[in-house]
Amino acid sequence: AAQAEAPDHWSAPKAGFAAALAGCTRCPLHSGATQAVQGEGPETAELMIVGEQPGDQEDLQGRPFVGPAGQALDAALQAAGVSRAEVYLTNAVKHFKYVTRGKRRLHQRPNSSEIAHCRWWLDAELARLHPRIVLALGAVAAQALTGDGARIMARRGQIEQGRHGGPVLISLHPAHILRTPDRNAQMRLHQALRDDIATAHAITS
Ligand code: URA
Repeated sequence: AAQAEAPDHWSAPKAGFAAALAGCTRCPLHSGATQAVQGEGPETAELMIVGEQPGDQEDLQGRPFVGPAGQALDAALQAAGVSRAEVYLTNAVKHFKYVTRGKRRLHQRPNSSEIAHCRWWLDAELARLHPRIVLALGAVAAQALTGDGARIMARRGQIEQGRHGGPVLISLHPAHILRTPDRNAQMRLHQALRDDIATAHAITS
């Protein structure tokens, strides 16, 4: 009987997973968001890249990394010689968390409880894809993947053991690059992200 009650997305591949995620109410974030944003990329991808959560554009379009942070990530992927089409892109938290200021929706960082609730989906993606290496973009992704939410700068570029049993390369979040005002500092961060992508990609080949 226990087996008959198992959710279908554990056995069915993507379609069942997507339908189940679309209806997720595991935490309160679903009520303010337009939709849950699914991961995207080949099921056979050996490199999984995990961001924080959808932003404004991602929430509206239903795709990960299509807004400004996505453009910064695309630039870093291109600089590293890695095609976006060969990696699986997803987020630690699948619904957009924000506060409204006038007409704008301002990103809010998900809290530990929201990250923990949403880890159920991330764990399912990890179990489904079995990536050779996971690249964690920023502290929220690192926390979801390794259980350690400590600051990123001392950890970036290093491989840590993921909760799923596989390696996680810690990197920084592209939105952090965009928020950095100093042009030279911004370039250094962009190079760091590019280098981390290249390192992760080299592990898959
Ligand atoms: N930032 C993220 O972490 N993920 C997205 O999908 C978009 C912006």
